[in-house]
Amino acid sequence: MAMEKTQAKAKKSHWTADDSAALFGIRDWSLNYFDISEQGDVIAHVDCNGKPVSVSLLDIVEGIKERGLDMPVVLRIENLLDQRIKTLNEAFATAIKNSDYQNHYRGVFPIKVNQQCHVIEEIANYGAKYHHGLEAGSKAELIIALSQLQDHNSLIICNGYKDAAFVDLGLYARQMGIPCFFVLETLAELPIIIERSKVLGIEPLVGVRIRLASMVEGHWNEDSGDRSIFGLSTNALLTVIEQLKQANMLHCLQMLHCLQMLHCHLGSQIPNIRSGVLEACQFYAGLVEEGAPMGYLDLGGGLAVDYEGTQTNSTHSMNYKLDEYCSNIIETLKESFDPLGIAHPVIVSESGRALVAYSSMLLFNILDVRDHKPGNIPDSLPEDSLDQLVNLYAVMQNIQSNNLQECYNDSLYYRDEVRELFHRGQASLRERALAENINLAVLKRIAELLPQAKRISPELEDLPELLSDIYYGNFSLFQSLPDIWALDQVFPVMPIHRLNEEPTRNAVIADITCDCDGKVDHFSSQGTISRTLKLHPLCENEEYYLGVFLVGAYQETLGDLHNLFGDTNVVSVHINEDGSFDFVREFQGDSIADVLSYVEYDPKIMQEQFRRIAEKAVRDGKISVAMRQKMLLAFRENLQGSTYFER
Ligand SMILES: Cc1ncc(COP(=O)(O)O)c(C=O)c1O
Repeated sequence: MAMEKTQAKAKKSHWTADDSAALFGIRDWSLNYFDISEQGDVIAHVDCNGKPVSVSLLDIVEGIKERGLDMPVVLRIENLLDQRIKTLNEAFATAIKNSDYQNHYRGVFPIKVNQQCHVIEEIANYGAKYHHGLEAGSKAELIIALSQLQDHNSLIICNGYKDAAFVDLGLYARQMGIPCFFVLETLAELPIIIERSKVLGIEPLVGVRIRLASMVEGHWNEDSGDRSIFGLSTNALLTVIEQLKQANMLHCLQMLHCLQMLHCHLGSQIPNIRSGVLEACQFYAGLVEEGAPMGYLDLGGGLAVDYEGTQTNSTHSMNYKLDEYCSNIIETLKESFDPLGIAHPVIVSESGRALVAYSSMLLFNILDVRDHKPGNIPDSLPEDSLDQLVNLYAVMQNIQSNNLQECYNDSLYYRDEVRELFHRGQASLRERALAENINLAVLKRIAELLPQAKRISPELEDLPELLSDIYYGNFSLFQSLPDIWALDQVFPVMPIHRLNEEPTRNAVIADITCDCDGKVDHFSSQGTISRTLKLHPLCENEEYYLGVFLVGAYQETLGDLHNLFGDTNVVSVHINEDGSFDFVREFQGDSIADVLSYVEYDPKIMQEQFRRIAEKAVRDGKISVAMRQKMLLAFRENLQGSTYFER
């Protein structure tokens, strides 16, 4: 990689922070939690006890560096997590009040969406005033829920497949007064729950997850529909009722009375919840008719996040507001239950991404830029030049807006001819380089003239991306942004400073893994998805920081160790009323020794193996003893160091 940095700072005169705000759409996707200051820095806007406070992310980065932590960093802003909990609970409370709904809302956070200790602790602590509970999909997650939730009015919802040990833990919680529900995912779980509750003499709280026929659009629509791998069919639901009734006949516990919750989950980023809720209400009413006491309706997750800021029904956007989502649910419940005289149930939702996405962002520095500037092209060609080069040169001199396609075809043709000659040993290295430079110059000129062209073919449409710069970022996409790779997820990406300078480069962003999928090349910009992002040229001796926003959901938990890049450093800050901020948590990311041990190496044994190799090299006279010591020290220090690029 050639390190090319421009000395000159971009002109500041005409470009303003407002221009950057429009370009990067920050006021469209950030729900006003982020904006740009007059100085051109991204600022976080938080609410401190009713007082709005703004803090520059660059100031936080300086603080991170002073504390000896390097990029990349996942930054969490505690206040934003608190605000999301407050906003969600208050939106439901308002919708309940406005519709005179006769019961309350209980939120539960699905631990799988972000299992990190600090996130769960904050939800448990701050959420207690709203009785915000937790959803656990495994024994490990139930253990987290049991140890973190102190408020016994908060629900614990156990989804996922449950063995006897899982069930026992949940029953003990129930015995202590914690409302811990077992949601049946399959028929096979019911006998275990019945048996364990008889053995321990503890009545369980049971829910049934149903398979809705209503389906939504997008990546996650297989959470519902007939082919969903989750939930009970209508027939299986009837079997559950029969089994609960039978258990009641044979034993003293009132098993059917334990069935109190109906659960469903339509999918993530759902564009429309009404038809799913309507169907769930019919199931709920059916269970009441069968004699189950019921009382809770859990509508799962799905509340969307507008990653694009386009307010559309695209999978990465959201075409409704939070208050519409809440009032849609409440009104549908009322309309369904009132005519049947069914008491309003407690409404439960398991919003994951909508709760935690905003509070975390990935920050990283740019290590290098590769641009596609053509190399040197002479003012005229020597007389004895290859015919193909002469023709290519003529193409370059004749480009106009009305012959772009023709010039494009000719340029590639003559460049390939020269390459062919090179293969056969009939063109020199310099001739080949010149052909490639001229071709690049032709393509650049065509790209510049594209806006004036009447018709643009798909190959010409791709030119700006093909010619864009590659900015190499100090992060691993697979570790920190796995959904970009897995789902083509669009996240807001932008520089966190220099935003009162015009960004003049068109770029895609590559990570530092050795994988061609390790790049970000889809960006939301001014209402469309763009294949390149406008960035600033690098300045000599100055770091350039980018932020990827709204990454608090799923990214931290799904990341993997591709190329053995480990967990990044993580910093949690709490912003105070006076604009200062406290570093409430700092976690050093994985060291190289850590990641090696995850893949079953023993760093101590590795050191010993390296020592033996070095010792043999001393014996063979290849290195001195002093050199051996230096090498062993470097090996040891690297094991303790970061897996990422260190300056
Ligand atoms: C059962 C269940 N509840 C809740 C969620 C969270 O969904 P979201 O993050 O879209 O709110 C999921 C996500 O897949 C889920 O499977």
